Amino acid sequence: MTPRVVRTAAELRALEGTIALVPTMGALHDGHVQLMKHARPLAETLVASIFVNPTQFAAGEDFGEYPRTWDDDLQRCEEAGVDVVFAPEVATMYPAGLVDQVTVDPGPLGSILEGEQRPTHFRGVLTVVAKLFGLVRPDVAVFGEKDYQQLALIRLMADALCLDVEVVGCPTVREADGLAMSSRNRYLTADERVRAVALSQALDAGVAAGSDGPEAVRAAALARLTDFGVVPDYVAVTSPDLGQAVPGAARLLIAARVGKPRLLDNRALTLGPDALGHAPEGS
Ligand code: PAJ
Repeated sequence: MTPRVVRTAAELRALEGTIALVPTMGALHDGHVQLMKHARPLAETLVASIFVNPTQFAAGEDFGEYPRTWDDDLQRCEEAGVDVVFAPEVATMYPAGLVDQVTVDPGPLGSILEGEQRPTHFRGVLTVVAKLFGLVRPDVAVFGEKDYQQLALIRLMADALCLDVEVVGCPTVREADGLAMSSRNRYLTADERVRAVALSQALDAGVAAGSDGPEAVRAAALARLTDFGVVPDYVAVTSPDLGQAVPGAARLLIAARVGKPRLLDNRALTLGPDALGHAPEGS
């Protein structure tokens, strides 16, 4: 059945039963569809939101050019079993305008990694997700591990602000050659698309070096990126909650520009001690 498209808080208030929410910015691909399919059995009503959130883009970023593919998005939502698509106007989300608002401060985790590169980004993300939670009032909300730091921050926010929403994470969906699906992949030229596989291959190389400790992981990942001529913004080895890495479960995260688009990817790995037998120092 074609999903019902709603644009206002009043229409959302009329929804009945338990609600699962999948927030998106549209330009939907199989990664988004996977989140929706995962969310489908978790509640009676499945809501997907499509809203390109201006406050998470800094001046000079791609807000204006961000792909908008409404007809295709609706089709994908229908295929994934979405009941309601919430597609608000900017004025519905930001009735008081885009500045001088009450916002959500992401805290220290919001200023490392992506937050260091994009200092206002997570304030915008958390603010809009808090608003979406307030409007949709979901019992459960599903996000991708593709944006690992975003997922970690949303979990922290739901807990810290007592939002009473269960936050569920889903594994990254990849193209056949390993490239993590992303709405921004469509900006890649044919040549850049070939080089973009550098990120997932660097993750593979890093994961394979895990038993030799975090420095070996970073070195292996960097070497693979260099093979493709890709210079990363960061290659980080952390604990699963983005703190200091210690032997055992860990996370490897990479961000790099390939041509114009900035790509992100990450993977779980298991760390051994470093070559001297020291516990890792983090990244
Ligand atoms: P967007 O980039 O559209 O992503 C929406 C959701 O899809 C996020 O939870 C993201 O992690 C997930 N996703 C993207 N690519 C994926 C992939 N290859 N595999 C699995 N999941 C994937 O993230 C945002 O929008 C925004 O910041 C938002 C949370 C909607 C707030 O505006």
